[in-house]
Order: sequence, then structure tokens, then C-alpha cells
Amino acid sequence: MHITVKDVRKSFRRGESEIQVLRGITCAFAPGVFHFIVGPSGSGKSSLLYLLGGLDTPTSGEIAIDGSPMGQWSESRRNRFRGAQVGFIFQNFNLMSNLSALENVLVPFMPAGVSNEQREQARQLLTRVGLGKRLTHRPSHLSGGEQQRVAIARALLKRPSLILADEPTGELDSQTGNEVLGLLRELSSEHQATVIVVTHDTSHMTSADFVHRIHDGVIVETRVPNPAIVGPETD
Ligand SMILES: Nc1ncnc2c1ncn2[C@@H]1O[C@H](COP(=O)(O)OP(=O)(O)O)[C@@H](O)[C@H]1O
Ligand SMILES: [Mg+2]
Repeated sequence: MHITVKDVRKSFRRGESEIQVLRGITCAFAPGVFHFIVGPSGSGKSSLLYLLGGLDTPTSGEIAIDGSPMGQWSESRRNRFRGAQVGFIFQNFNLMSNLSALENVLVPFMPAGVSNEQREQARQLLTRVGLGKRLTHRPSHLSGGEQQRVAIARALLKRPSLILADEPTGELDSQTGNEVLGLLRELSSEHQATVIVVTHDTSHMTSADFVHRIHDGVIVETRVPNPAIVGPETD
């Protein structure tokens, strides 16, 4: 999925005053590529991510998905986009404590009824992320890294062409964080998905990632990887 963002602004009313959280964001995201949006807390990263996923609408400016401006979409078109094409991953995993790992992955499909094929795909995905032996475990019996991998499997089951992750390593130790991002990188190139990870922590970035640096609601720098160094990491 190709995403273009043109002069996007977002403000929120707080009492009498209006705060401008995004102040003219222009950038682009390409498929099969791993993008980071980095910046300090309060710089507008989550707000931008919610706009990209169609969870919120800009105050002005335009976000286009494969050339189609979201601002012109009907409510049902927007719902279909969110439901079928976007996989969200959050910092606190958002798993349901009374469901097993397998059931948590199937949650998005439960309203319509889960088919045997979906159940089998969920099993395979969990196995793929290293949780084949944890299918029936509840979240409280899984480590933080394992819970985040369940959340990744849940986001991937519908084969989204856009994966949005908001501080996905925020609750994880540094090594587990690296493993989770490594897994997302692998899956993104396999699925040719557009992956956008928002974080304030630059320690997991590699030279092969696109990095958009945001400060006070403005993108102040975009680092494009040097094609010569894109490829398997050597360190
Ligand atoms: N719904 C909202 N209403 C009012 N202010 C908001 C809302 N969402 C975010 N903000 C404010 O916008 C600023 C940026 O928030 P956010 O996008 O969450 O930043 P980040 O994810 O980079 O920490 C913060 O000052 C936050 O308080
Ligand atoms: Mg945030």
C-alpha cells in the first residue's frame, strides 16, 4: 500500500484554546518497506498514526491511499479499510485476559464466525512467531515478548497491506524489543506490507530502515536508506 501525506494538520480543542498537534506533515510511505516515525513524547506520533489508519481525520490536508484521498471516502469505505486492510499493534498488546493465545488471534474474526481455515491459519501464524507450544496459554501465562507476538499474529491474520505499530517495544526489554522488530521486518518483506512503527526509542533502528523524525508536529528529517546497505544485517 502506498500512502501519501500532504500538508496534514491536526488540532484539538482544549477548553478555550486550540492546540495544534500536527502542523503541516508531508511524507510518503511505500509498500514492502519498514518505516519508523521517531520523536519525543508529545510530538504527535500517535496522532499521525491514527490518521494514517483512518481512526481519526485531519483538520486539514490530505492522506491518500494508493492515490485515493481518504477525505472523499464514505464511512463504510473507511470502515472496510480499517477492518480489512490495516493491522494495528499497540504498546500494551491489548489482549483479552480471559482468552487463550489462539483465541486472541481470532478475535477480529469472531463477530462473523471463525472458519476452520482461519483457525488453522491462526495456528500456523502463532507457530511462525514461535508460539506453537503456547496456543492455549492465557496472556497472564505469557511473557511480555510472547504477548506482543500474539498481538502481531492477530494483526497479521487478515493479511493487512498496512501494519501500524504504536510503541510496540515500549513494554519490552531491549533484546526482546529487537526480536519483535526483527520479526516485523521479516513479515513485512514476506507480505510486501507497508509497515510503520512509531517510537521514541531509536535503539532498535537499523541502517536499512526509513526514518521520519518528527518534532512538535513537524517532520524535521527523513532518512532514506542507502540502497547499497539495504539487505541482511551484518551485525
Ligand atoms: N484527543 C486529544 N485531545 C486533546 N489533545 C490531544 C488528543 N490527542 C493527543 N493530544 C495532544 O497532542 C499532543 C501529541 O500527542 P500524541 O500524538 O499522543 O504524541 P506522541 O504519540 O508523540 O507522544 C499531546 O500534547 C497530547 O496531549
Ligand atoms: Mg504516542
